[in-house]
Amino acid sequence: MKEKLNVVIVGGGSTWCPGILKSLTKHQDILPLKRVVMYDTDADRQAVIGEFGKILFREEAPDVAFDYTTDKSRVYEDVDFVLCQIRTGGYDMRSTDEKIPLSMGLIGQETVGAGGMAYGIRSMTDMIEIVNDVRAQSPEAWIINYTNPAALVAYGLARVFPDEHRILNICDQPVNLLRSYGRLLGCASREFEPVYFGLNHFGWFTHIYDEAGRDLVPVIRDHVREHGFKPADAEQRDQSWLDTYAMVADMLHDFPDYLPNTYLQYYLYPKYKLAHLDPAYTRSDEVINSREKRVFAECRRVAQVGSAKGSSVVQNDAHGDMIVEVSSAIYRNTRQTFIVMVKNDGIIEGFPNDAMVEVAASVGVNGPQPYAVGKIEPFYYGLMTTQYSYERLAMEAYLEHSYEKALQALTLNRLVNDAKDAREVLDKLIEANKDYWPELK
Ligand code: NAD
Ligand code: G6P
Ligand code: MN
Repeated sequence: MKEKLNVVIVGGGSTWCPGILKSLTKHQDILPLKRVVMYDTDADRQAVIGEFGKILFREEAPDVAFDYTTDKSRVYEDVDFVLCQIRTGGYDMRSTDEKIPLSMGLIGQETVGAGGMAYGIRSMTDMIEIVNDVRAQSPEAWIINYTNPAALVAYGLARVFPDEHRILNICDQPVNLLRSYGRLLGCASREFEPVYFGLNHFGWFTHIYDEAGRDLVPVIRDHVREHGFKPADAEQRDQSWLDTYAMVADMLHDFPDYLPNTYLQYYLYPKYKLAHLDPAYTRSDEVINSREKRVFAECRRVAQVGSAKGSSVVQNDAHGDMIVEVSSAIYRNTRQTFIVMVKNDGIIEGFPNDAMVEVAASVGVNGPQPYAVGKIEPFYYGLMTTQYSYERLAMEAYLEHSYEKALQALTLNRLVNDAKDAREVLDKLIEANKDYWPELK
């Protein structure tokens, strides 16, 4: 491999982009860089973060050529890593994903329920275009993708590009959880060896071994049940995220076997969540008034003073660190363990081979080599089978332009369930997404 790498960040205007830029400058010992270019379809939005990036790179990594562009004609030439995190339709469409289902008494969330399906279908056309654009210019580049709903995007891309071996879909929530367990136990999570299985935003830690080989899962479970649970970066989190982490205690009270991913709260306690969600002020409103405002204001401030020294633009660096560390593991063939999305192919016994499962894997030059999970218990198998069928049908609805499969997908989704509700919410989502979805027949 090359001595220095060329990286493109797709979705340069993302609220998470400054964190990735910071991680890139910070980790040059493990991911040496020649060129970093941000690409976004929204020039004005990206320029604010791009100007921050120029100052950051000038101060922290002056030898790296840094730029940003909305011209994709040559952006992927001679690229080694494409780091991708786009939001098709922006926060306006996220708002409809949340509010349309909620107006009917159904959960709508970025990646969960009917709103998650709406976003998944929206993301696919852009994601397919990005993969084709990258491949036209850099057939060997690795595409590391965060774009949500990552479960649907991962499954959809695997169906559209069956011969692809250099697309890796990742999620930072397992890392966020590991860091939070570290905070709870008063130790660093870096040395934890996790065992995890599930689908994205739908999984469980079965074991977490410390350096001495001790399984920390029972200790963490007991601690959370007694004292509650907070994110590692609790002081910077919005109220809805604190509420989300608090629900882990409920889940461990009812289902003490494994440590659950926080997103399971919606599937396990939909009535409770519904009663505590405000249909007039959802997570998109909260993000617009918190993370988005904070990130863009801080980038503008940095541009004004001309220095990023001491900037607080990145509060939780788990997101940026993970994508840089995964890229480095591939580049340096370190075979470090990460929790990532891969094709099941027998990892979980008896589960469909084409499911994109989220499991621990050793990551090296050939990408992720997943560790076997084996047999899973009926409760988890049942939950996952329904969710897998929903994911598959949602993506087949997109690929085949099938109204019937979309209706089946929503009817199977635990957060819809009733076929008449499924039809009503589907019709409303079709109308709201007419600029983004293919016509379903
Ligand atoms: P955001 O709206 O702030 O940023 C997304 C950016 O993507 C915008 O600047 C937008 O203009 C740009 N964009 C949209 N379509 C594009 C396209 N076709 N090509 C290039 N750029 C395009 O959103 P955000 O909250 O920062 O999140 C970005 C994405 O990352 C979302 O999909 C989010 O769900 C995802 N995310 C995933 C994880 C994970 O765990 N997998 C974690 C954090 C964020
Ligand atoms: C976690 C999840 C992501 C999600 C992110 C932000 O990290 O793993 O998939 O996009 O949180 O969610 P928010 O609701 O704050 O935009
Ligand atoms: Mn995620």
